[in-house]
Amino acid sequence: MITGAAGFLGSHLCDKFVGEGYKVIAMDNLITGDLKNLEHLFPNPDFEFYHHDVTKYIHISGPLDYILHFASPASPIDYLKIPIQTLKVGAMGTHNCLGLAKEKRARILVASTSEVYGDPLVHPQTEEYWGNVNPVGPRGVYDEAKRYMESITTAYHSFHKVDTRIVRIFNTYGPRMRLNDGRALPAFIGQALRGEDITVFGDGSQTRSFCFVSDLIEGIYRLLLSNYTGPVNIGNPNEISLKRFAEEVLALTGNKVKIVSLPLPVDDPKQRRPDITLAKKLLNWTPIISRKEGLEKTYHYFKELPQEEWYRQPKEFLSGK
Ligand SMILES: NC(=O)c1ccc[n+]([C@@H]2O[C@H](COP(=O)([O-])OP(=O)(O)OC[C@H]3O[C@@H](n4cnc5c(N)ncnc54)[C@H](O)[C@@H]3O)[C@@H](O)[C@H]2O)c1
Repeated sequence: MITGAAGFLGSHLCDKFVGEGYKVIAMDNLITGDLKNLEHLFPNPDFEFYHHDVTKYIHISGPLDYILHFASPASPIDYLKIPIQTLKVGAMGTHNCLGLAKEKRARILVASTSEVYGDPLVHPQTEEYWGNVNPVGPRGVYDEAKRYMESITTAYHSFHKVDTRIVRIFNTYGPRMRLNDGRALPAFIGQALRGEDITVFGDGSQTRSFCFVSDLIEGIYRLLLSNYTGPVNIGNPNEISLKRFAEEVLALTGNKVKIVSLPLPVDDPKQRRPDITLAKKLLNWTPIISRKEGLEKTYHYFKELPQEEWYRQPKEFLSGK
């Protein structure tokens, strides 16, 4: 079972597991996801979709071997608009998935994030670092939900002996992201496609490390099949400043727009780079797609979308309860 299956990462996970010959139950309430990401899988008899909110009790008949819990708004533009749902899916959604794993004796992997490191005081970030998170800052709803997720997952492992895995995902990009999700990479590509100036927050010296989606999915697959229960960083350690990155996007698109600066958002992390020593040793995993190749694939995907997608406004949500 994969929760958050209609989202960016969830849909790629569905492809991977169906491709490896598993029967997949995909679950999503479509709050930020889109069935378009899954429609190619609907004819497959090994694939089933359940429209369900994982903060409500989850019932699945029959056995389950693995649960991958990926349901959660993931980009600031989403979780700042639906802060309570974000906290609930990290807390109650994770609790329900862990309960299901216990009942079915299934192995469960939960999707944590580099955001548990907050605005890190240690660089690059290793799994031992405890983080620098502001619980009452605007991003706290996401960061603390994921920290609670790690905590309750670890408690289910030690207290109920549930077989658990925790992946700490660093910025990942690729086809099926939403152009308007507010993250730097789709924002830059969207602006370049629409012929608008590219906006960089602050002086653009803050860094990010971008991992192409196929590398991340392979890392998650290997972690699930490993026997390690502690948190594992999966990401690409190739770090770049956002200013330099905006220049790379511009060069790729051949566009002549300007790069302009906007005020830095509150609690925006200044630097981010995974230390992946553990993943290399444990999973014999390392990212193989260069930023140039990944960026080209992603740009091509967005360029081929119907033009109205380039102008689609961010999703409005009905309530933040
Ligand atoms: N993309 C990244 O770079 C990144 C980095 C770190 C962590 N993650 C984690 O990976 C997971 C997936 O992220 P994504 O980028 O694919 O985001 P996404 O928004 O594309 O996908 C999230 C999916 O979860 C679904 N969802 C949200 N709340 C739900 C609920 N209560 N019940 C059922 N479904 C619900 C949404 O409808 C959506 O389809 C998230 O848990 C996120 O925190 C992603």
